[in-house]
This record gives sequence, structure tokens and C-alpha cells, in this order.
Amino acid sequence: MALINENFLKLKAGYLFPEIARRVKVFTDGNPEAAKRLIRCGIGDVTEALPEAVRYAMHEAVDEMGDRKSFKGYGPEQGYDFLRNAIADNDFNARGIEVDADEIFISDGSKCDTGNILDIFGRGNKIAITDPVYPVYVDTNVMIGNTGDADENGAYAGLTYLKCNPSNGFVPEIPTERVDIAYLCYPNNPTGAVATRTQLEAWVAYALKNDTILLYDSAYEAFIRDPELPHSIFEIPGARDCAIEFRSFSKNGGFTGVRCAFVVIPKSLKGKTASGETQAIHPLWSRRHSTKFNGASYIVQKGAEALYSPEGKSQTRALIEHYMGNAALLVQACKDAGLAVYGGENAPYVWVQCPAGVTSWQMFDKMLNEANVVITPGSGFGSAGEGYFRISAFNSRANVEEVCRRIGALA
Ligand code: MLT
Repeated sequence: MALINENFLKLKAGYLFPEIARRVKVFTDGNPEAAKRLIRCGIGDVTEALPEAVRYAMHEAVDEMGDRKSFKGYGPEQGYDFLRNAIADNDFNARGIEVDADEIFISDGSKCDTGNILDIFGRGNKIAITDPVYPVYVDTNVMIGNTGDADENGAYAGLTYLKCNPSNGFVPEIPTERVDIAYLCYPNNPTGAVATRTQLEAWVAYALKNDTILLYDSAYEAFIRDPELPHSIFEIPGARDCAIEFRSFSKNGGFTGVRCAFVVIPKSLKGKTASGETQAIHPLWSRRHSTKFNGASYIVQKGAEALYSPEGKSQTRALIEHYMGNAALLVQACKDAGLAVYGGENAPYVWVQCPAGVTSWQMFDKMLNEANVVITPGSGFGSAGEGYFRISAFNSRANVEEVCRRIGALA
């Protein structure tokens, strides 16, 4: 019999979102009438239609594929130059940030990228994650063998947990010990917190001093409204020597079902071999990408490129305005209900403290059974998320207004 990767047996029962889906299914199967009123604000999945500019570009790309003369087979694994150039120009160079097009690797999603990146790092690295945290960072480290077993609170031996709470504004203090790799996500999923330039400068200074690599997940940067806040870790001097950035078209362009994202790996970023020789990270990821990935589809990349056209930019802005308008309504409704609320100002997630004595899953059940609203229990993001819940602002305006009414009625 084939041996299995026993690290998988260390994983907690289910990935958070399938577990929520399972519980919701039990509820809807048992309550068909209430199921009709159900509003889902759990997983952060976009609800509004794809921007017209994207659809137009994708239609054109389909037609190109329908003509032998312009048909395309395998594309470059790292992504087509037209998209890599559009990203470098618009997301980075136009903001005065140094990123070359060939430092950008197009992929089919940030979830995959943040998990797959571990392929190019050795075992035995000391890994820091925030708590609460996007569960993918933890689970992929468990799968690959970077942790021991979980304790009764779900914390894995071997990981360094950086606690995030109201007193640090959900941005962790700089660790007192050195770590090899630290995951940071700002604007944050799940708390909606943002990191200031000064906070990111402190992280970059720590990383440079300790030879730490920062895995910076910036999938929600498009939701930043405060002009003072950095959109990219590469806005911080020195970050090119210590950071990898993950970006996605899922939430700004409505691509959760279309699938397109990218990773930025500066050519100056280095790791080391066990014998102590330094090694550039960029060629390792390039090699990994070429071996395990055949590139995102041409049609999808044409759609993503269209997000950078003038029409695409204005349609993206409208989408962001829509979701952030939802976030503002949800924040206000929770405040009116007397709840302590965080996030929702520069991020599409509203992070809410449960009423005193109520656990995250109790709140999940209460919202499901009494308000017929699906939220995400904070404890699903780590033990420091216990006592909180997350409301996603990705929804129609009518649904959000109804959720606000129901939150008011519960209070
Ligand atoms: C979430 O709800 O946390 C996100 O949808 C997860 C994701 O983007 O993979």
C-alpha cells in the first residue's frame, strides 16, 4: 500500500469554508422555509457581474481562439507580456514603485500561490503567522510538514503566532525572536485591519536585520481608501530584498470564478542553502511555475488586462465603491446594535466582537437560526479570533440592507 503524507492527518476537521457550507446545508435541509430567506455573508465571494470591459476583451479573445491564424495553444507559463507589462506599469511603476514585468508571475489565484510558494522553501524554517489569520497559510504549512500537532486550541506546535487584537489594532507587534518567514496580509482578511507605512517600515527593518522573508498578501489593496496607506510592501524602501507580494484580480475585478492573480518576486530577493550559500528566489519560483503550471488561460489574461484600460479602471472603481458602500452600512448597523466593530473602512470585511459571553460559533448559530444570515465565526481564523465574527461586504445592496435590518432586530 502507498504511504500517505501523514501531515494531512494533523489538519483540523475541515477547511473553514467547507465546514460553514456543511452547517448551512444541515440548516437549509431542515428548514426549507427559512432557507428561502437565507443571506450569505460568510465566504468573501463577489456577487456583482464582471465588468463590461473584461467581458468585451474576453469575447474578443474567444474569437481570436476561433480563428486558426490567431489561435493560441500553450502560453508562457509566467504569463503573457501584455498582462505582466500592464501590471508593472499600472500597479507599480505609475505609483513610483520599482517592479519589473519579469518579476511578475501570473497565476490562477492567490490561494494557490500563497500555498504553493512553500515548494521553494526548505523544511525547518521558523514560520510566523498572525492570529487570527487566513487559514490557508497555516494549513499549507501543516500539509508540508512545517509544524507539529495542534493543541486543544488549534494552535500548531512549531508555528510562531503573532496575536492581533484591538489593543494593537490587529497589526501584530514585531516579534521578539527571529523567524525565517512571516506572513502578513493587509488590508487584512479576516479583520479588515490595515497596516500603516510606519508599521510596514518596522516589519521591513526587522526582516532585513534578521534575514526574514515577508510573504505579503495584498489581495485586498484595491479597497484601500485612505491615501496615506501603502498598497504594496514594495512602497517600503528595502522591501525588494526581503519580500514577496501576492495580488489577485478576484475581489477588485470580480474574478473569483474567472481565476487570475499574480506573485511579485524581486530578482534581488535571496534565501540560502543548508550549507550557507545565498541563492536568488526568483529563478526557483520561475522553475517551479514552469514545471507545475501551464499558465493562466489566454482568454482570462486578456480579461485581466482589460481591467487596466480606462473603462476597466472606472468599472473596477464602481465595483469597489459598491462593496465599500455595503461595508459602511454593515459597520453602522453593528454599531447601532451596540457591538464593537473593526475593519470595513479600507477592506471589504467587517470584524465584529460578539456580545459578552457568546462564542464565535454560538454567534454563527444565532445569526443562522434567528436572522438567517451566514457569517464567518472568528475562531475559524485562529484562537485569537474567538469571540469575534466576520461579515463579508460582498453582496447586493438589497441583501446588505436586509442584513442590517436583521442585525437591528436581533439586538
Ligand atoms: C474569504 O472569505 O476569506 C475568502 O473568500 C477566501 C479566499 O479568497 O480564498
